[in-house]
Parts: sequence; C-alpha cells; structure tokens
Amino acid sequence: TWTMANFIETEIATIREKVGTGKVLCALSGGVDSAVVAVLIHKAIGDQLHCVFVNNGLLRKGEAEKVVNLFTKHFKINLQHVEATDRFLDKLTGISDPEQKRKIIGNEFIYLFEEEAKKLGQVDYLAQGTLYPDVIESVSTKGPSAVIKSHHNVGGLPEKMNLKLLEPVRELFKDEVRLLGKELGMPDEMVYRQPFPGPGLAIRCIGELSPEKLDILREADAIVIDEIRKAGLYRDIWQSFAVLLPVKTVGVMGDARTYEYTCVLRAVNSLDGMTADWVKLPYELLGSISSRIINEVKGVNRVAYDISQKPPATIEWE
Ligand code: XMP
Repeated sequence: TWTMANFIETEIATIREKVGTGKVLCALSGGVDSAVVAVLIHKAIGDQLHCVFVNNGLLRKGEAEKVVNLFTKHFKINLQHVEATDRFLDKLTGISDPEQKRKIIGNEFIYLFEEEAKKLGQVDYLAQGTLYPDVIESVSTKGPSAVIKSHHNVGGLPEKMNLKLLEPVRELFKDEVRLLGKELGMPDEMVYRQPFPGPGLAIRCIGELSPEKLDILREADAIVIDEIRKAGLYRDIWQSFAVLLPVKTVGVMGDARTYEYTCVLRAVNSLDGMTADWVKLPYELLGSISSRIINEVKGVNRVAYDISQKPPATIEWE
C-alpha cells in the first residue's frame, strides 16, 4: 500500500542512487513546493545539497528571516542567502508596466542564480518543486496567445545551465506535498502557506514601485494575514492579501485633512487558481482589517474590498 512514509523511503533511495557523490542546487522561493523538495533531498544527501534563497525586496514582512531561520537553524541545510533588494529595485525604477515588471524580475533572478551556481563549481542536478499539475500543464497545447500573464519560475534555467533535473514530487498533488512536508517535520506555517507569486509584492504595488510604497504594502499585507489568521480562516482561503493603489484620496484625521494612498483587500477562494471567487468575509473582520490598516499603516487613509470574480478579473491585480 502507498503511504507517505513509504514514499519518503523510496524517494530517498532514488535520489541517493541518481546523485551519487554529485552536487544538487535548489532555489528556495519561500513557497511550499521548493521547501519540501529541499528538506526531502537534504534527508537523502545532506550537505551535497546547496540551496539559494534570493531576497529580492519584494517579499512579505519577515519572510526572508523566516526562511533563513528554518533552513539554516532548524534543518541545518546549506543555504546561500543573497540580499539583492537594491539590485532588483534599481532595475525596476520607473517601470509601471506589469509584464515588464515580471520580465525584469524573472531575468534578474536567473542572473543571480547563475552567479551563485558558478561559485559552487561543478553542479550536477537542479532540484525543482514541479508538481503533477505542472507536468500536465506543460504538455498541453496552449499557444503563446494563451499567455495572459507571464509566470515567473525557474523554468528556463535547466537548459541554460546544462543541468539535469531532480523533481522528486512530480507525481504529487499540492495537498500531498503538504502532507509530505508535515511528515518531514516542517512547521504548519510553511506547509499550509497560501500561494504567493514569484514577482511578489511588485505585482501588488500597482504602477511604479518605490521603497516607501513597498513598505506601506508590506505593513498592510501583514495586518491582513494576521487578522485572517486570528479569525481562523487562513487555511480555508486560497489567497488573502493587500494591494496598494497609486491613488491618493482625501481623508480626515483629528481635525486635519489627509491625502493618502488607497489599499485594496483581496481574498479569494479557488481550487487551482484558474477560476476564483471573492470570499464573503464577515463584516466584523472586514471592519477590523480596515481600521487596523488605516490606524497602523502610515500613508493609507482608505481601504476597499475587491469583489471581482476570476474571470473576468484575475486574482492578482497585475
Ligand atoms: P492570476 O492573477 O493570473 O493568478 O489570476 C493565478 C494564480 O497564479 C499566481 N501567480 C503567479 N505565481 N508567478 C507565480 O509563481 C507569477 O508570476 C504569478 N502570477 C500570478 C497568483 O498568485 C494566483 O495564485
């Protein structure tokens, strides 16, 4: 019979046999799939695994610290933490087109990753958190015209770097990867994380980016997550997050006029991200998220709730 424990045992044996004494490189995104893959491979080959984690300055509040702590302190995995905030933000200055943002971020990530790989000398395998649905999707016949948003992942890397792929979860579905993570002793906070796009906060900070706007968004987003968690809804919702609009509106605080940014709350339910519906969050929760953002985040004086379905809207705003 198929059990997760058996799966782990078999995969470990397969990985050891494939890799031999070689070196494996793994890009950690902070997401569930790459994290589970890294922990599984580490269990098989220990220090022959080298992970790279890039802080692109577009991550959520406290995320980089959490990833670095979990992997280096808890799992004792070799991890190169690349602090590249300035590099990414420099490249993104003055850019407001969503597709251009995505391309710049994707390319910059590849450059950085290649630089890190070079420092390691000979690398034999690239580990990826490819899931079964990704395998199916990539053999489908969607033409380039079907690309609505260019998704950023490390898809172009293996060919460019001439590396063999190690994809130990390519026969699993998302819920199975989560179970695998649990079985490998990973904390719930990592295992049950809501999806987060590769380009990160860049595509939730509408229009031109600036460090100030990203900070405002990061704070507002942390409040959304905190309130959704406190309400016990985090695991039941596909995605819940804040979006920052480049729109200033008039408000009043005490007896002074304010003129500040507008924040949008987005919470959707979905099975696979292809279609989605907005979540009927309780009014009280909407109220507490709104007041906390307006009271605690300097620079925002108005919060709106996005009640659009996908299609015709998309989950992300860019
Ligand atoms: P949209 O906005 O197209 O998003 O309705 C569908 C799902 O995909 C996620 N998403 C991305 N994930 N890289 C990713 O890894 C990306 O560039 C990207 N863009 C969107 C989005 O968060 C949602 O879950």
